[in-house]
Amino acid sequence: MKIRNFINSFSTGRNVLLGIFILAIFISLGMARKNMQTTKYVDILQKKKDSTASKEAFAKVYKVLMHPRCLNCHPKGDIPLQGDDSHVHSMKPRRGKDGKGLYAMKCANCHQDTNTPGLHSPPGNPEWHLPPADMKMVFEGRSSSELAKQLVNKSKNGNKSIEELIEHADDTLVKAGWNPAEGLALPPLSHKEFKDAWITWLENGAYTPD
Ligand code: HEC
Ligand code: HEC
Repeated sequence: MKIRNFINSFSTGRNVLLGIFILAIFISLGMARKNMQTTKYVDILQKKKDSTASKEAFAKVYKVLMHPRCLNCHPKGDIPLQGDDSHVHSMKPRRGKDGKGLYAMKCANCHQDTNTPGLHSPPGNPEWHLPPADMKMVFEGRSSSELAKQLVNKSKNGNKSIEELIEHADDTLVKAGWNPAEGLALPPLSHKEFKDAWITWLENGAYTPD
């Protein structure tokens, strides 16, 4: 009996050891992954900051943000704006909780996946909508310093980190600004110039203009 007990306890002991060993491998794999992510983030944060370059870049960014191709979807009210004079959208479609319209006036009813040809036709994009009611991301009426602070404030920008903001330069609705409906003006910078300025502003500390 005693010998059998001894053998039993030995083999359970071995299983426990094996278990601990496997667990250790998983934990260290997990830690290595986390370290890699942190390093990437720290790279951006520890890059040498140039406050002058940052502010100069934001002056360019601001011109684009306040352009009708961007501003019309970032209104202070709950109705989008239209055209190069940013007038209130005809038929007044409302934001709704998710930004996609209310009741029968869903944005996607009129805004198709691609631009509808012809003057005064709706521009198209599969994602066409306003920011949601609980995170309106208003650009209209913001001074450049107000907007600079707002854009990096996680409680106002949709909880975006600096990295996520950088990625947002290639967002489909941002790019839609450079694919306007017929007869509408393009933003004052090319998409590439905008993206360069946006990244320069953010990577150099996202300084607020004076
Ligand atoms: C069709 C409407 C639409 C257009 C046009 C549009 N946006 Fe947006 N924008 C949105 C929506 C919706 C969100 C929220 C999406 C999210 O949080 O992922 C958003 C979010 C953003 C954000 C991140 C939130 C913040 O405040 O930091 C930025 C920056 C932004 N847009 C910039 C632009 C720029 C620049 C243009 C023009 C080149 C533009 N947008 C054009 C609808 C639009
Ligand atoms: C009943 C149809 C209809 C609905 C619903 C609708 N739109 Fe439009 N939208 C249009 C038309 C048509 C135009 C182009 C008008 C023009 O250029 O004169 C337009 C233009 C716009 C523009 C201006 C684009 C620019 O570059 O200036 C924005 C922004 C816009 N719509 C956002 C929205 C959003 C957001 C919703 C949903 C909340 C929505 N629309 C719902 C028909 C509609």
